[in-house]
Amino acid sequence: MIQKIKIAVDGHSSCGKSTLAKELAKELGYLYIDSGAMYRAITLFAIRKNLDQNTFQEIIPLLKEINLSFKKTNSGAYSIHLNGENVEDEIRRKPVANAVSRIAEIKEVRNKLVIEQRKFGKNGGIVMDGRDIGSVVFPNAELKLFITADVDIRTNRRYLEMTQKGVSLSKEEVRKNLMERDHIDSNRKESPLIKVKEAVEINNSNLNKKEQLNLVLKIVKETISNLS
Ligand code: DC
Repeated sequence: MIQKIKIAVDGHSSCGKSTLAKELAKELGYLYIDSGAMYRAITLFAIRKNLDQNTFQEIIPLLKEINLSFKKTNSGAYSIHLNGENVEDEIRRKPVANAVSRIAEIKEVRNKLVIEQRKFGKNGGIVMDGRDIGSVVFPNAELKLFITADVDIRTNRRYLEMTQKGVSLSKEEVRKNLMERDHIDSNRKESPLIKVKEAVEINNSNLNKKEQLNLVLKIVKETISNLS
């Protein structure tokens, strides 16, 4: 039987990691987990509780009240549920996007989520995307990818995605949010975004989704055949 591996997909904000990870999991018949959605759902919980957004430290004693789960929708995609409520759409909106990096800096938040993320991967056959998957969550992942793209290209892609969803914002706002998140994610004390030395780096600025997926499927095949 072909071995079911763990695939860690890390990289910058809005470089298409989730799209790639989702398609890859579908092709391979693996579980897909969007770890960013978990940070976003905790952020939504904190916003709804009106916590002080400067530090969000008040979230720490409330973490035990938060239960996160992924449920399959009719379209076959997974949606994140916060204490039983489907919040997949709400976590993509501006208030959460603007605050999530500050929640992701908190050690206690990260500890809780890393424990949950590791449970999803205990039997292999998983693609998980995020910032610390190859470095912290699955340091033993058989394949680690580090995805990036030029900032102008990422801005255009995110702008298009948001405007298609009916969110009104300027390109400058999108670019500022991306750059701020990259800065915080890469410079925070707890589990910063890094490219671990064994990760395969893919800059997808000049690749379309199909080309990128085919490239990664080739890498997966090679990785699995090198294991046996
Ligand atoms: O992938 P995303 O844009 O949905 O992630 C939202 C935020 O969560 C992002 O600013 C970084 C943080 N994050 C993290 O710190 N670690 C992860 N494994 C995933 C996301």
